[in-house]
Amino acid sequence: PRIYVITPTYARLVQKAELTRLSHTFLHVPQLHWIVVEDAPQPTPLVTDFLAASGLTYTHLYKLTPKDRKLQEGDPSWLKPRGAEQRNEGLRWLREMGAAAKGKEAAALEEAVVYFADDDNTYSLQLFEEMRYTYRVSVWPVGLVGGMKFERPVVEDGKVVRFHTGWRPNRPFPIDMAGFAVSLRLVLTNPQARFDGDAQMGFLESSFLQHLVTLDDLEPKADLCTKVLVWHTRTEKPKMKREDALQKQGLGSDPDVEV
Ligand code: UGA
Ligand code: MN
Repeated sequence: PRIYVITPTYARLVQKAELTRLSHTFLHVPQLHWIVVEDAPQPTPLVTDFLAASGLTYTHLYKLTPKDRKLQEGDPSWLKPRGAEQRNEGLRWLREMGAAAKGKEAAALEEAVVYFADDDNTYSLQLFEEMRYTYRVSVWPVGLVGGMKFERPVVEDGKVVRFHTGWRPNRPFPIDMAGFAVSLRLVLTNPQARFDGDAQMGFLESSFLQHLVTLDDLEPKADLCTKVLVWHTRTEKPKMKREDALQKQGLGSDPDVEV
């Protein structure tokens, strides 16, 4: 089965580095279709050129987060969810494609799986083979997240019975975006399922999954959720102290060089 990966991304100094790392992982994954959704008013040359040269099968979309929904410089990172509008745009594209598909292509979509991969996390290749066969929603541990070494679904007798998490375990699905994949069939048959850009901190994943499944339906992967195959790494913002100082003297780095 095919894997559709939806990645929200936005312009910042480390963007091309993040996308490079991610694409080099995806190049090793068979049958992967990358849906890159820019948080921008139009496609940017950097991402357009990057994707064209990537060697991956991809779809390039864009959807600007409205200003009142976007974190402002200096806001604490928990104030507003990130990437919600972009993931919804990816879902819209999938549903449009799903509605138009016929015959063999429609049959292929029946089996496909959808995964939301942020541009800064770290993904093992094994993760994609774990999620490839997903009937409804598959789940697994996520490393270095939520102020913990890892969070994970707790499995008893092959079923998910609760979650190991350090914070509000009673959320409907206390699980990071990187910790689940959904069958495309479920996405197509539940057109109301989307991410709520106004969701409270920690409830973005639940806002989507609530429309699709209950705890009982979850399919535990990664050896019954005993292996960490994805890490919620976050990239440090590069310091530009020297750059700023040189720029004031007219000696900044050549702006025509893409970084
Ligand atoms: C955590 C979760 O892992 C995210 O999946 C979730 O969206 C986020 O919290 C949240 O609650 O909003 P975190 O590392 O804090 O992740 O978020 P980022 O990695 O900064 O952003 C998630 C994705 O959205 C990234 O792919 C990023 O490129 C994108 N993004 C971020 C935008 O498209 N626009 C922005 O303004 C910021
Ligand atoms: Mn992140």
